[in-house]
Amino acid sequence: MAVSGRKKGPVSPAVAGPVAVYPGSFDPITNGHLDIVKRALAVFPRVVLAVAFNPNKDSALFTAEERVATIREALVEFGDRIEVDTFSGLLVDYARRIEAAVVVRGLRAVSDFEYEFQMTMMNRHLAPAIETVFLMAGAQYFYTSSRLVKEVALFGGDVRAHVPPAVRRRLAAKLGTQTGRGRKRR
Ligand code: PNS
Repeated sequence: MAVSGRKKGPVSPAVAGPVAVYPGSFDPITNGHLDIVKRALAVFPRVVLAVAFNPNKDSALFTAEERVATIREALVEFGDRIEVDTFSGLLVDYARRIEAAVVVRGLRAVSDFEYEFQMTMMNRHLAPAIETVFLMAGAQYFYTSSRLVKEVALFGGDVRAHVPPAVRRRLAAKLGTQTGRGRKRR
């Protein structure tokens, strides 16, 4: 499925240094993810934010196309050193395809560690040449997650501190709530 605008094949190394892929479900992208993008761009010349999707069965709230469109809107301020793409199948196969040498993942609290550790070790087993690098999210994002954002939005709670405006609008449209304004008091 071609939902992204980036050309297939390797990312052009306009600036010297390794290309980093920042993979995730991004269902939806949060301010915590954007914080990691900012940090990744401070370290790597090119970052490809890669939205994982399952063409057969995707339990995501937003389609891959919707996620990409939202992310593009949210990333406007970051310029052209970041690209948005989608992938299905193994992350390491995708990383090889675009010639990314590094996988970037964000870490919040200790609770992320075990899941991330297992994924990193499996990816390392599958592709020893691809290194995973962890960046710590800002402390204000330590409890921000896509799952909680969706749950809070579903029940009309205020998610303004956790997601960019583009996501707030799409959450409200999708869930039919006035997300971010809180519930009307009687
Ligand atoms: O945002 P998420 O859900 O934590 O991202 C997880 C993701 C998409 C990075 C991970 O599930 C993934 O890499 N999926 C692609 C399939 C794959 O390569 N699986 C083996 C990784 S150990």
